[in-house]
This record gives sequence, C-alpha cells and structure tokens, in this order.
Amino acid sequence: MTTFAVTAASGRLGRLVVEALLERGVAPGDVVALARTPAKLDDLAARGVRVRRADHAEPATLGPALAGVDRLLLISGDAPGQRLAQHCNVVDAAVAAGVQRLAYTSILRAGTTGNPLAPDHRATEEAIAASGLAHTLLRNGWYTENYTDRLGQHLSTGEVVGSTRDGRVSAATRADYAAAAAAALLDDGAGDRVHELGGPAFTLAELAATITEVTGTPVAHRDLSTEEHVAHLRAAGLDEGTAGFVAALDASTARGELHTTSEDLQRLIGRPATGLADALRAARA
Ligand SMILES: NC(=O)c1ccc[n+]([C@@H]2O[C@H](COP(=O)([O-])OP(=O)(O)OC[C@H]3O[C@@H](n4cnc5c(N)ncnc54)[C@H](OP(=O)(O)O)[C@@H]3O)[C@@H](O)[C@H]2O)c1
Repeated sequence: MTTFAVTAASGRLGRLVVEALLERGVAPGDVVALARTPAKLDDLAARGVRVRRADHAEPATLGPALAGVDRLLLISGDAPGQRLAQHCNVVDAAVAAGVQRLAYTSILRAGTTGNPLAPDHRATEEAIAASGLAHTLLRNGWYTENYTDRLGQHLSTGEVVGSTRDGRVSAATRADYAAAAAAALLDDGAGDRVHELGGPAFTLAELAATITEVTGTPVAHRDLSTEEHVAHLRAAGLDEGTAGFVAALDASTARGELHTTSEDLQRLIGRPATGLADALRAARA
C-alpha cells in the first residue's frame, strides 16, 4: 500500500489533485490531504480521505502531517517573500519523515526563465535536489484560468490589453495540471524526472479572437509597450510595484518563456490538454 499526500489541498489545485487521485482508483484512506485549515476539507474527510493539518510556516505541524507518507506533492505557496522558506520547511520535513518521492509544482523552464516568479521555484528545485529525495519536478505553465477568470472584464471593455507582443502562452487548466500531478505521483518508476507542462499555445491576439468567436462579442487585442502597460495598469488603480510586476510577467511572455512544445502534459494525462475555446465556453457557462 502506498500513501499519497498533497499539500495545500484546500486550494483550487490541491483539491483537484486529490480528486484526480481518487478518480484514478486510489483508495480514499491512502490519500492524506494536508491543509493549513483542515475544516475546509470536511467534505473530503467524510469521503474517507485522511485530512491533517500542515502549515508550511509552522515546521512543528509538518512532522506529524507527513508520518507514514510515501509520495508527497508539494504545491507551491503564494506568500510573497515567504514561500521559499516555507517550501524548504516541507522538504526538510519530507526527508525526516522518510518520504520516498517528492513532487513539486514549479514553473515552466525554471532553470533558465527570466520570469519574475521563477527565483523561488528555481531555489526550491535546488533545495529538493540537495535534499537527496527522489523527485519529480512538475514545471507548470500558466493556468488557462488566468485568462478565463477575466472573461467578464474583456467582454465589458471590448479589449485584451497587455505587453506580450507576439509571445505565445502554452496554458492549460488547473484540472489538466492536477491530472498530471496525480499521474506523476502514481508513476512507480525510479529516478528523478522533470516535466515541462503546458497546453496548446496562443497569443493574446488569438485570445481576443477566440473570445470573439466563442461569445459573439467583439473583443480586440491592444498591445502596449512595457511603459505604456505600466501606465495603463496604474490608471486602473494598481500600485506601482504591482503594475511593474504584471508588466514584467508580460515581458517574460514576450520573450517566449511561457511557451513550450513539450508534450509532457498530454503524455502524462493520456489526452490532449484543454483547449482555449473549450475553457472559454466552460467559463461562460
Ligand atoms: N501557473 C499559474 O498560472 C499559477 C497561477 C496561480 C497560482 N499558481 C501557483 O499555484 C499554487 C496553487 O494555486 P491555487 O490556484 O490552488 O491557489 P489557491 O486556490 O489560492 O490555494 C492556495 C492554497 O495554499 C494554501 N496555503 C497558503 N499558505 C499556506 C501555508 N502557510 N501552509 C499551508 N498551506 C498554505 C492555502 O490554504 P488556506 O486554505 O488555509 O488558505 C490554499 O489551500 C499557488 O500557490 C501558486 O504558487 C500558479
């Protein structure tokens, strides 16, 4: 019997990974759903999933949380300036608990990308390698939901505004990445693995065209210089730091850093990743 654990299981991705493990036939009692706020997982507990408290900022919670765990998925955190230390707490606890394989949700091209989110991911990958744990790096591209969540805004303004030039984004849905994480956890092979994960690529111009096609509402693409984009975001109410950060993400896209031709995602999940038009139709519904 193999025991699987998923961190941040109360989050959107974590919950989908737990569901994907169950869908793939893992018994609920062999799944440990870890959460900073376990009460958010009462529904999973009622289905027989073992729910335990694990706060990545509180190392004392992690030893008991990982007791008996064979394969662990560490989902990257979201606390600016703190997440690397939190990831390292989990890696240390995994070593101490005798975890046999650690999977980690990283970022596409973590080794080379200039994406402003990458330094924490790169340093986490390095900490995992230094730990000696057998590991699987799930280098996730952008979530399609980064775009579909803004569908209403695009429809009301009639625009998709950015500074990505003709940069392509190999996005996939959280459900796709969750299925890939479950498949990676279920892989019995030995050795370390790195998966570059992304779905069908599109530019922001193609995003605007696809929104138009799916909804029947004309939406245009407006590409700005980085300076113009920062000014646009400031005018929309973002503070200077946040506006600069968002524009830096687009600059990364413009450099092609969120594009991959890797087929790792569809190979892991055994089907094509969800296309943009389908994701937009689902968001609209
Ligand atoms: N590739 C992309 O496009 C993209 C986009 C967004 C996010 N991400 C990354 O993917 C991760 C998961 O995304 P998501 O959509 O599932 O995020 P989410 O729905 O916002 O969930 C975040 C989860 O992190 C948990 N968490 C926060 N601090 C914690 C701590 N100290 N200890 C334990 N758990 C903690 C939260 O627990 P509580 O329920 O207790 O708050 C929640 O379960 C993010 O954290 C981020 O690193 C990637």
